[in-house]
Amino acid sequence: MSSYELPLPHLRMTKKYEELETIRIRCLNCHKCSLGDTRNNIVFSDGIPNPKLMLIGEAPGFYEDKEGKPFVGKAGQLLDKIFESVGLTRKRDVYICNTVKCRPPENRNPEPNEKEACWEFLKAQIDIIQPKIILLCGNVAVQSILGNIGGITKIRGKWFNGGENVHGAKLMPIFHPSYLLRNDSREKGSPKWLMWQDIQEIKREFDKL
Ligand code: URA
Repeated sequence: MSSYELPLPHLRMTKKYEELETIRIRCLNCHKCSLGDTRNNIVFSDGIPNPKLMLIGEAPGFYEDKEGKPFVGKAGQLLDKIFESVGLTRKRDVYICNTVKCRPPENRNPEPNEKEACWEFLKAQIDIIQPKIILLCGNVAVQSILGNIGGITKIRGKWFNGGENVHGAKLMPIFHPSYLLRNDSREKGSPKWLMWQDIQEIKREFDKL
């Protein structure tokens, strides 16, 4: 059973919301790749469709597929804590979606044909919302927007100027929270410490908008 929530009533009336809803319904009926046959729910988005900040993850996992919402498992809970550490919440500040909207079996990485099939939905989300900042969470999201520009360890925390595809948004690759869950150290230079630097830089940029 999906726990997808309709946005707050005042947002439901906006043109942006209606356009997103049209895309979500098209996605609900999508069977362009085989993930459409094994999913329980599509996982379209969560958070607020705001023009400031969007986060793009990889693909739904077990809990996301069950609930129809992105980042609700352990990794998602950590992601919420990371945002909250700088005063941001998904309900008020961030639109969250994934590169691929259906769960790949056994949580494997999405295949190229699956990413290709799903691109129209992600592209539509970007085109409708036109966020000023896009966080690319993990390698799959980085590759889908920036191509093969290097591993996440080298490029995380750097700003990239997005081209026309993303309406000139500023892009920052960040570690995926499931990687942080596997690396518990908080010492200087550790993935968690680096994430802390990155989220502060993101908040500085967010505050300028
Ligand atoms: N990991 C992702 O990249 N997305 C989710 O929605 C959940 C886990």
